Amino acid sequence: ESMAQKKPLTIRLCGPRGFCAGVDRAIQIVVLALKKYGAPVYVRHEIVHNRYVVEGLQARGAVFVEELDEIPAEHRSQPVVFSAHGVPKSVPTDAESKNLFYLDATCPLVSKVHKQAMRHQRLGRHVILVGHSGHPEVIGTMGQLPDGAVTLIETIDDAEVYVPQDPDNLGFVTQTTLSVDDTAGIIATLQRRFPALTAPAAESICYATTNRQDAVKAAAPGCDLFLVVGAPNSSNSKRLVEVAERSGALQSLLVQRASDIDWSRVGDVSVVGLSAGASAPEIIVDEIIQSFSDRYLVSIELAETTIETENFHVMRDLRDVE
Ligand code: F3S
Repeated sequence: ESMAQKKPLTIRLCGPRGFCAGVDRAIQIVVLALKKYGAPVYVRHEIVHNRYVVEGLQARGAVFVEELDEIPAEHRSQPVVFSAHGVPKSVPTDAESKNLFYLDATCPLVSKVHKQAMRHQRLGRHVILVGHSGHPEVIGTMGQLPDGAVTLIETIDDAEVYVPQDPDNLGFVTQTTLSVDDTAGIIATLQRRFPALTAPAAESICYATTNRQDAVKAAAPGCDLFLVVGAPNSSNSKRLVEVAERSGALQSLLVQRASDIDWSRVGDVSVVGLSAGASAPEIIVDEIIQSFSDRYLVSIELAETTIETENFHVMRDLRDVE
């Protein structure tokens, strides 16, 4: 097919997009552990919610398990890495009782939320966690405190009907990957009902979530189609799809790989927005741009709202690995 036959198409490429510092650090921890200790390195839960990343690490000798019990007795001297989403306190305790050697890849910004939740409790406050039920980060944050110490609020409706035991002693934290706008609505509802509600000392939604949503908001108006690279279990990626749709993209879809794109549905588009969740590797963004280039005469327009410089170091044990 000659270039002349291809229709022109603009891809509005959002920046920042893709890997955040916490995801980058978690992947590095697994890679460095494999180098230092050799395979297998066990990883509890998907290290980050991305199949491509998980399969790449599996090929290098990482073994993914959901629970520590799955690690065979003869491999208990091999390290086990905890995922970036964080874990309940019972997990490191359990690892210690099993004499396992663990490396905690919990994102430092998730650990910060854990500390804020513990601080609320120490100061006598019942903790409200705004987040999505069943997400590993929510399980991890709730598991920092004893059963019953944390109430999960998912929606404005939940916030409207919640009846606390002591409305004057409440503190909240949130999941790091929520919709900035939805969360503001939920918090406003809680604050209206419980004026004494105490905010955490620092915002729980992380810089990466906020920045990716801002970039999508700026790029979405006028897009015929908006694609977000990410996995169906990736909270921050799903939020980007919603933000794109609410901010004016005619259609907005989550895609894991270029092969997910249903070209019969793409149809007559001329402006396509493109972003990637915090756990989605850039190579898939490239792959998607390439598959558009195979079909259209593509020009790329950068939609960059800020430049990120965050970088989280791996633990001391792994810093000397070549
Ligand atoms: Fe951490 Fe935010 Fe990424 S909490 S893992 S920097 S999405």
